[in-house]
Amino acid sequence: MSKVARLDKVLSNMGYGSRKQIKKIVKEGNVEVNGEVILKNDLKVKPYEDEIYLNGEKVIYREFIYIMMNKPKGLVSSTDDPRDSTVINLLSDEYLIFKPFPAGRLDKDTEGLMLITNDGKLSHELLSPKRGVEKTYYVEVDGVVEEEHKERFKNRIELDDGYLTLPAKLDIMNSDVISKAYLTIKEGKYHQVKRMFEALSMKVIYLKRVSMGTLRLDESLNTGEYRELTKEEVFSLKNI
Ligand code: URA
Repeated sequence: MSKVARLDKVLSNMGYGSRKQIKKIVKEGNVEVNGEVILKNDLKVKPYEDEIYLNGEKVIYREFIYIMMNKPKGLVSSTDDPRDSTVINLLSDEYLIFKPFPAGRLDKDTEGLMLITNDGKLSHELLSPKRGVEKTYYVEVDGVVEEEHKERFKNRIELDDGYLTLPAKLDIMNSDVISKAYLTIKEGKYHQVKRMFEALSMKVIYLKRVSMGTLRLDESLNTGEYRELTKEEVFSLKNI
């Protein structure tokens, strides 16, 4: 929001009600700006500087929120869904007022790092194919992942629909009948990681995103838990 804005717009953006409801709240004398009761709902305020109180409670203005969630299995990564619960359903009301949405998708059975924000510009930049932001996934696969596969991932892999993937980086943790590895990709096609392994005749049995650009999953978050990003995390994400 610009530096100066209408009082009713500021309060309504903060989730305190519709413009109409705010008008009523203001008219009833429930809002103070810099120590003065204000009855004009269209008063111009500086939301980051002026002291605004609503029903005696200080309004701390902010436009954007940035939340990191360790997504659990079983939830879909959209804002609403006719059948399934969504990652947004886990958030408390104090965040819902900002109308956040997931920046990018993870499959219903995938766990791990999910950025939830209402910053459309950042989300767009992180997901733009032109930017090629790196995403790293921890994978467990049914199949023996071997050194020679590193080269296959580095070169282009042809998916089931003929799409040739961009070079990806494979780090093998454990090579066995069930193998463990990290795969870093720079794009986000539908079911991409699963389909890349499928193209090599291996089945992904567990998938967890651990990073996205400069953002690393905070391993102290259990699945289903979330926290706001630190200022530093937001800053470095915006500067990739
Ligand atoms: N690749 C997949 O196959 N699934 C995800 O959820 C993310 C990347």
